[in-house]
Amino acid sequence: MISILKKIISSPFKFLKLIIIQVLSLKMNKSEFIDNQTLRFAKLGLSRKLALEKLENIRKKYNIKISDMSSEHEVIFSALSLLDNFKVNKILEIGTYDAKNIKLLSYLFNKSQLVTIDLEEDDENFKNFYNRLEKDKLRKFVEQRDNILTSLKNVNFRKKNSLELLKENDKYDLIWIDGAHGYPFITIDIVNSLRILNANGYILCDDIYLEAFKNSDKMYQSTGGYQTLNELEKNKVISFHLVHKRLSKKDLVIPSRRKFIAIIKKKY
Ligand SMILES: C[S@@+](CC[C@H](N)C(=O)[O-])C[C@H]1O[C@@H](n2cnc3c(N)ncnc32)[C@H](O)[C@@H]1O
Repeated sequence: MISILKKIISSPFKFLKLIIIQVLSLKMNKSEFIDNQTLRFAKLGLSRKLALEKLENIRKKYNIKISDMSSEHEVIFSALSLLDNFKVNKILEIGTYDAKNIKLLSYLFNKSQLVTIDLEEDDENFKNFYNRLEKDKLRKFVEQRDNILTSLKNVNFRKKNSLELLKENDKYDLIWIDGAHGYPFITIDIVNSLRILNANGYILCDDIYLEAFKNSDKMYQSTGGYQTLNELEKNKVISFHLVHKRLSKKDLVIPSRRKFIAIIKKKY
């Protein structure tokens, strides 16, 4: 009780926001969003139901737990892995983080070659991204990440800045853009990925916000991705569709704060 009181006194606005979110959530019908998400998948020829079943089986078989980073991107990947007419030879992930996602991908696409890239540990942006971790915790984090990476036979990890993809010659069938989310990185990542994507390939781009933030930043919160995709679509270079990133009430309750994942195809 005392700790709750302390929280209210220390940040009354945060507390008020929490109350408002709780009240608004009571009025929400979550199943509407799930149905809507299923439709968004279906429009792309993807079965969310079958994808969830496959994901569940893979999780059980390889003991892969749901993590903080888990979201609908995993379901989309699972759905894409079920497409008969989509041959996936090579996959690229921009932003390895703890390597749990590339581990899941390596089982979903066990016949493909996967490449995952992340910044050098002494890169300023890497340090900023992980500044919530103390030095010793960061060392452990990197050690655990590397243990996972070396255990995966079809995964190749490269320490490099995604901006260097400008020099990449390999081609990919599936690219997961999940590095720095703000401008200019996101724009450069999208353009570079389009250049190295095979004609029938897919790009998935994480954390698309539709509405601008008061405090946008280059790592997390930005509409840079959405603006870039809109311009490319307007000029008939790509087509893209959005699916909700998360389907919990707290993630959907404030419309302007909803996050999406973009599923992108080239039009050339
Ligand atoms: C959101 S995490 C990635 C999560 C992971 N892909 C997943 O699905 O769980 C973002 C990662 O991108 C990395 N990153 C940020 N900017 C980058 C850049 N320019 N090039 C490569 N990696 C970058 C960060 O170091 C961090 O590990």
